[in-house]
Amino acid sequence: MEKQEIRTFGRRHGKKLSARKERLVETVLPKIAPTTDEKNGILEIGFGAGEHMRDLALESPDQIIIGAEPFMNGVAALLSAICDGNDAISPEYKNLRIWPDDVRLLFDKIKFQFSQIWVLHPDPWPKARHEKRRLLNAEFLTLLGKNLCNGGKIIIGTDHWEYYDWILDQVKNTNLKICDSAHGIIKTRYQQKNMANTTEPKYIILGME
Ligand SMILES: C[S@@+](CC[C@H](N)C(=O)[O-])C[C@H]1O[C@@H](n2cnc3c(N)ncnc32)[C@H](O)[C@@H]1O
Repeated sequence: MEKQEIRTFGRRHGKKLSARKERLVETVLPKIAPTTDEKNGILEIGFGAGEHMRDLALESPDQIIIGAEPFMNGVAALLSAICDGNDAISPEYKNLRIWPDDVRLLFDKIKFQFSQIWVLHPDPWPKARHEKRRLLNAEFLTLLGKNLCNGGKIIIGTDHWEYYDWILDQVKNTNLKICDSAHGIIKTRYQQKNMANTTEPKYIILGME
């Protein structure tokens, strides 16, 4: 973020991490940072505790899966799930990379060619005075478009229907096009816990015009 960007996320830290998770953050996390050599693959923004990222890693073993998440308890939960009892990353998750910070800082560092960019349940910031904190504004969507490969897709899911309509309005001010809105329900932790399945998520799939 060369200019000072508005913060789009809430807390960076929640309850104290267990000794194991603290150790994994200290020793394993630095080893799986995205590198400037890896410019292709799949990105998930705001992965929460990373359950969908793990699915992506298993579904696409030959692709690098990069996840960005500034909430350290989420990062630690993912590390805990992908490491065995000896703090070694399980072989099926060797293609995962973690950026434990604001994704916009990652885009400042590397120009990518992602085939998929996932944003599941972005923080909706429902109060009018917080609207400027919404991540998926036209400027950010344009930035995502610049980091897609030919034919690449941005997949957004939210069960905050007002935010959904707001995103569709933002898309009008970009050079992205809506490819689809149909998607099977993906049950991330947020979807399962916070919404208790009371509101169906809606999806927006975007590509370059
Ligand atoms: C409502 S949670 C959803 C988490 C997860 N996708 C799920 O469905 O369980 C939104 C997440 O987006 C993350 N987030 C917000 N702004 C972000 C940014 N600029 N870069 C990366 N992650 C961000 C937050 O820290 C938070 O964990």
